Amino acid sequence: MKPFAFIQLCSLFTLTQQVPTREKCTCELSLGEKEFPHGKFKFVENNVTTCNRQITPQKTLELESLLLGLERRVAQLNKDVSILEKEDDGQLYGVLSLYIIENEMIEVRQLMDKLNSTTVGQQLLTANTTHQLQDLKAEMSELETFDTMQVVKGRQENRRLKANLEACNTAVQATVPPAQPPHGTCQRGPLQNISEVRFFDEGTSVNRYLYGSWGRDPKPQPGNESWYWKVALTTGDQYGNHIRLYSNRAAVLIKGDHPQGKVEIHSSNPTTNTIQGPNAVLYGGALFYNCYNKDAVCRFNLTAKSITTLQLPQGTRYNSNANFCHLGQCYKYTDLDLATDESGVWVVYTTNQDFGNLVLSKVEEGEVLTLGQTWRTSVFKSSVTNTFVACGVLYATRFVNSTVEEIFYSFDTTTKNENFHVGIYINKMKTNIYSLNYSPVDKMLHAYSDGFIVSYEVSFE
Ligand SMILES: *[C@@H]1O[C@H](CO)[C@@H](O)[C@H](O)[C@H]1NC(C)=O
Ligand SMILES: *[C@@H]1O[C@H](CO)[C@@H](O)[C@H](O)[C@H]1NC(C)=O
Ligand SMILES: *[C@@H]1O[C@H](CO)[C@@H](O)[C@H](O)[C@H]1NC(C)=O
Ligand SMILES: *[C@@H]1O[C@H](CO)[C@@H](O)[C@H](O)[C@H]1NC(C)=O
Ligand SMILES: *[C@@H]1O[C@H](CO)[C@@H](O)[C@H](O)[C@H]1NC(C)=O
Ligand SMILES: *[C@@H]1O[C@H](CO)[C@@H](O)[C@H](O)[C@H]1NC(C)=O
Ligand SMILES: *[C@@H]1O[C@H](CO)[C@@H](O)[C@H](O)[C@H]1NC(C)=O
Repeated sequence: MKPFAFIQLCSLFTLTQQVPTREKCTCELSLGEKEFPHGKFKFVENNVTTCNRQITPQKTLELESLLLGLERRVAQLNKDVSILEKEDDGQLYGVLSLYIIENEMIEVRQLMDKLNSTTVGQQLLTANTTHQLQDLKAEMSELETFDTMQVVKGRQENRRLKANLEACNTAVQATVPPAQPPHGTCQRGPLQNISEVRFFDEGTSVNRYLYGSWGRDPKPQPGNESWYWKVALTTGDQYGNHIRLYSNRAAVLIKGDHPQGKVEIHSSNPTTNTIQGPNAVLYGGALFYNCYNKDAVCRFNLTAKSITTLQLPQGTRYNSNANFCHLGQCYKYTDLDLATDESGVWVVYTTNQDFGNLVLSKVEEGEVLTLGQTWRTSVFKSSVTNTFVACGVLYATRFVNSTVEEIFYSFDTTTKNENFHVGIYINKMKTNIYSLNYSPVDKMLHAYSDGFIVSYEVSFE
């Protein structure tokens, strides 16, 4: 039985004078072939998309960072063994060094195991993907035999035309002298280098708090231009409920735990809308941070002492489920990273639908907070140790060793260009950087690192 389709021809012709009466014309269209299986085609298309998603750059990045770690540790092991050989007097020194080397070997072993499981996982994935691709290819050739109505070819042609059009558009735009500077939103080149440490304080408190953040308000209230702020997470290195304020940078050193101002969000810690995690920023006299136990951004107005919240999209990972990490260690409650640059406030996070890849959104201020434009990247959040934004360009860091952190990745929100080979190094005072933020007023990077507060100068090309 052949399927039939009925088309009302009247709707296909415009009425002209020649048509005497309004008669209803019906046309019987008989398809000589079987109907094209649109449903099946859709299915194959979906499967291709799923297949594509499974092979993300994060997989290779994961392997790369493991190998990097292994390389570094093996070098260290080599060095220590040669020291041991030199100092071997058969006495105490040798025994101590042996312990150190034993520990190092355990670490190397653990890394190898992790590498092995990652490799095994990738082999499985490759096998699976190859299998899937073969299936899809077979399906496609079968579908092509149905394709007498040129549905598939038509789509392919449409896609080709669309690509041509886009290429043409880009070419046209490229010939126009660029109104926008090539790197981000400022009239200057990309990030060039990070200076040696320009300022640091190891904290004056007996109970030095390891997690926190500090910096300068890029849009200070009149009279507060030289003020600095600091937030320490005082409960379990996870939660905070107050902000310390210092009238200038020297005061941060001298005053330490006795600032010129101390503003409390709530007397309890933690409770609704207090601070969770170390990545807070001060902007326009208000503190922006991850609200306690919520997938939301809180804005605490230091003058009015009022809180506004911004709910992030459904599927946003929070409560220490999508942290910044390096080899085997994750920084707890770093799901949301707030950042400031010349243009305002940003939030860096990830969602289930983005498979753990970094997502960047502009936070639009106003009476109420709203989520502005959003960009999706292909860098895996857990392969990153921190991020900051400068001139509308997102930068991500990774752990190299206890003294060096590398800015390895950038995403330009103006051009959507991703760069995995930034290769700018930061010399650290302490092993772990829990928060890192760019301050456009003094072109400094402010970091909070194992209880130390540290500043670096940023230079642009
Ligand atoms: C697509 O994938 C689903 C589940 O993975 C499978 O059941 C189905 O047979 C596939 N369809 C085609 C047309 O390959
Ligand atoms: C890697 O893992 C597989 C199974 O998970 C195991 O059989 C194999 O011995 C491991 N190889 C090494 C070098 O550890
Ligand atoms: C490969 O496929 C098997 C079964 O089809 C599944 O159990 C396994 O999780 C898949 N592996 C990966 C890495 O996708
Ligand atoms: C970058 O800064 C470091 C200090 O952090 C310095 O040693 C290095 O020479 C600088 N590199 C360039 C290319 O300026
Ligand atoms: C601004 O300065 C006043 C004193 O002039 C101080 O009380 C207040 O805490 C400062 N606010 C901020 C956000 O630095
Ligand atoms: C904070 O509150 C004060 C007083 O209500 C208001 O003037 C100011 O604009 C608010 N600041 C922010 C950043 O919302
Ligand atoms: C850390 O890495 C840097 C750059 O690779 C290297 O120069 C330095 O010696 C390393 N430091 C340690 C303690 O391994």
